[in-house]
Amino acid sequence: MELTGKRILLIISGGIAAYKSLDLIRRLRERGASVRPVMTAAAQEFVTPLAVGALSASHVYTDLFSREDEQDVGHIRLARECDLVVVAPASADLLAKMAHGLANDLASTILLATDRPVLVAPAMNPRMWSAPATVRNIAALRADGILLVGPATGEMAESGEAGVGRMAEPLEIAEAAGRLLRPEAQSLQGRTAIVTSGPTHEPIDPVRYIANRSSGRQGHAIAAALARLGADVTLVSGPVTIPDPAGVKVVHVERAEEMRDAVISRLPVDIAVMVAAVADWRVASSSDQKIKKQAGEAPPPLLLAENPDILSDVGHHGSRPRLVVGFAAETQDVEQNGLRKLERKGADLIVANDVSPQTGIMGGTRNRVKIISRQGVEDWPDLTKDEVADRLGALVAERLAGL
Ligand SMILES: Cc1cc2nc3c(=O)[nH]c(=O)nc-3n(C[C@H](O)[C@H](O)[C@H](O)COP(=O)(O)O)c2cc1C
Repeated sequence: MELTGKRILLIISGGIAAYKSLDLIRRLRERGASVRPVMTAAAQEFVTPLAVGALSASHVYTDLFSREDEQDVGHIRLARECDLVVVAPASADLLAKMAHGLANDLASTILLATDRPVLVAPAMNPRMWSAPATVRNIAALRADGILLVGPATGEMAESGEAGVGRMAEPLEIAEAAGRLLRPEAQSLQGRTAIVTSGPTHEPIDPVRYIANRSSGRQGHAIAAALARLGADVTLVSGPVTIPDPAGVKVVHVERAEEMRDAVISRLPVDIAVMVAAVADWRVASSSDQKIKKQAGEAPPPLLLAENPDILSDVGHHGSRPRLVVGFAAETQDVEQNGLRKLERKGADLIVANDVSPQTGIMGGTRNRVKIISRQGVEDWPDLTKDEVADRLGALVAERLAGL
């Protein structure tokens, strides 16, 4: 059983999905974990401590100022006497408290005091999930190293509402906990990795540039996932607005040529994952001064020059990493273009995706990819970019072990 002997502190906050946490307790226990439940006051409006206690076979902790539980500063003990903290469902409110370091009840105090990994399963109405405040809070939590599972897309409890915000299914949460706690969770210990992420900006003049819509979310998530597996990761990031991920060294660059130099100067490494959407072309002779518009004159022509092909340079380098993974963002013939790229660039794996505007992938939070290798093509389902990163991390570890 994959969770035998593992101690999970399960924090249940106040949302409709709290009823699913009863099933989650069962799923975690049938995998061999012991579950210690903590419930917020709001959670107790949705499910009873009696049901949670009976299913977990444990005392249910609800009160920060409990005379019994706090005789030995129980909230600190709860925060430390576990291998993993799981928050399911994670309400918008509790996520906001976590992002701001509030500690005004037992759940939020434990979350601030813990030094253990924290996995949250957000669950809320799609409008709450996409509200700017929640988006900011989730970005802050990711940057703090908090791990997310879900939310999924689907029907809400409120009739007629659908969208992103459904809590991940209990099985999926139990599997995510298993992935984090399995011994091979440190399967990249001792390995070095370099990951590129984001777009590049190619200057036209000091104030204008050519760019693309890459947000850096997928590359940053992959860097964080490899670091969680124990790898020593350097992330070379183009200009993005998302925070640096936790646990990795970050080198910020702007242009493709700078990105190539930053990558090549860090070889040799064991793993290279080239996710950045590097501009194929730069402006051949960008101006040192702002180009002025002249009345009556035709617009200036932009002459382009080819940029370095970083994936190909890495794939054919004398100090080639043992595993080279490239990304192929395509708008047509995804598989054929991915296969061609695998050969031409000297890569071991190509992660290909369709970035046509209607997919919402470029700049979005979800991804649907094909994994192309010499062994064949694997279709992955629609996943969050974090989930793609976790799966890819596991695949990289598996491939590297077999090399
Ligand atoms: C019927 C009902 C359903 C709710 N469902 C959710 C939900 O799914 N997600 C959420 O974030 N908040 C939901 N809320 C609001 C939270 O319960 C509320 O923000 C509460 O303060 C959360 O407290 P907690 O974070 O301490 O558990 C719901 C409220 C009600 C009355």
